[in-house]
Amino acid sequence: MTSLNDILEKAREKHELSKDEIEFLLQTDGEKLFKTADEIRKEYVGDEVHLRGLVEFSNICKSTCKYCGLRAPNKKIERYRLTPDEIINFANEGVMLGYKTLVLQSGEDMYYERDLLCSIISEIKKNDIALTLSIGERSEEDYEAFRTAGADRYLLRIETTDRNLYKKLHPNMDFENRLACLKNIKSLGYETGTGCLVGLPGQTMSSLADDILFFKSLNADMVGIGPFIPHPDTPLKGMFNPDNFERALKVMAVTRLVLPDINIPATTAMETVNPNGRIIALKSGANVVMPNILTSEYKKKYEIYPNKICINEHSGKCRNCIEAKINSIGRFISTTKGFRKPV
Ligand code: SAM
Ligand code: SF4
Ligand code: FES
Repeated sequence: MTSLNDILEKAREKHELSKDEIEFLLQTDGEKLFKTADEIRKEYVGDEVHLRGLVEFSNICKSTCKYCGLRAPNKKIERYRLTPDEIINFANEGVMLGYKTLVLQSGEDMYYERDLLCSIISEIKKNDIALTLSIGERSEEDYEAFRTAGADRYLLRIETTDRNLYKKLHPNMDFENRLACLKNIKSLGYETGTGCLVGLPGQTMSSLADDILFFKSLNADMVGIGPFIPHPDTPLKGMFNPDNFERALKVMAVTRLVLPDINIPATTAMETVNPNGRIIALKSGANVVMPNILTSEYKKKYEIYPNKICINEHSGKCRNCIEAKINSIGRFISTTKGFRKPV
């Protein structure tokens, strides 16, 4: 019988694991796994931590994902949509705070049609920064136009590769279309980010292992993994599972074993369920943090799950706070744009 040490050694040498081996790792005490993921992170991407400044520019969404507070049927949430000038001003603030990557994120809000978004992208790209989009499923033509306008990266989590679970959680969406979007994004030359939610009701270890194998088969450049946090105004309210943090950390660490050179964020959701969650994640395989650069007014309203961190903190304060935390563990903030393969 193969032991934990054998599996970790195999991962170190080959960065390939079978589904059984991944499931074994997900179900075993995490201590050695986290240590190995941290060592592989150090070997492949070093001690620098890339900061990505997040601009959540609209909380309006046409989708109905059952886990998310922004879902269209949630009538309790106060909606907002930033003007192009407001988006550009927040982006400029991010540039002044020293961010080398900015991330534009929103619900699936079709108000921002192709040309409008392209003009925002090209204006922001006048700065010497990398730009990431995280705005959901769009047409191939849109993805192509955004890329031509200057967007460098795209984040689209698969959320779960379990097709049945996907269907239950996304009544108005199509798994095959999500896959097609990811393939389009990749083929257009974006650095491609995906990821999953961990601890969804009905999710199994087997499906989490499939998620990791999917990240590997896509050769994702970025993988964001977060614990599912129930929102009270969604159909999944009250389904909190305290094991989700540890489980998400394990999925993240195994992802580092099989994709050693990619960018992996210590997600905000991890810090929401554990007060030291991002630092723990940075010591278990992660090398990216994504602080928010909006004002409190908007941060409060972008409530995908409750009790989000830093709601009342000014963007400058978060920038300094996270730098101090990162320095306290002997790591440092990168001064580069932090592409997977530096350009
Ligand atoms: N609308 C875009 C999309 O879905 O790709 C981007 C914004 S969406 C709010 C970003 C991510 O939030 C999703 O990919 C999902 O994994 C995460 N998310 C949504 N609801 C969540 C919850 N209740 N707990 C943890 N993460 C959640
Ligand atoms: Fe909309 Fe994204 Fe939330 Fe789904 S996860 S409801 S697409 S904002
Ligand atoms: Fe926002 Fe620490 S990162 S206050």
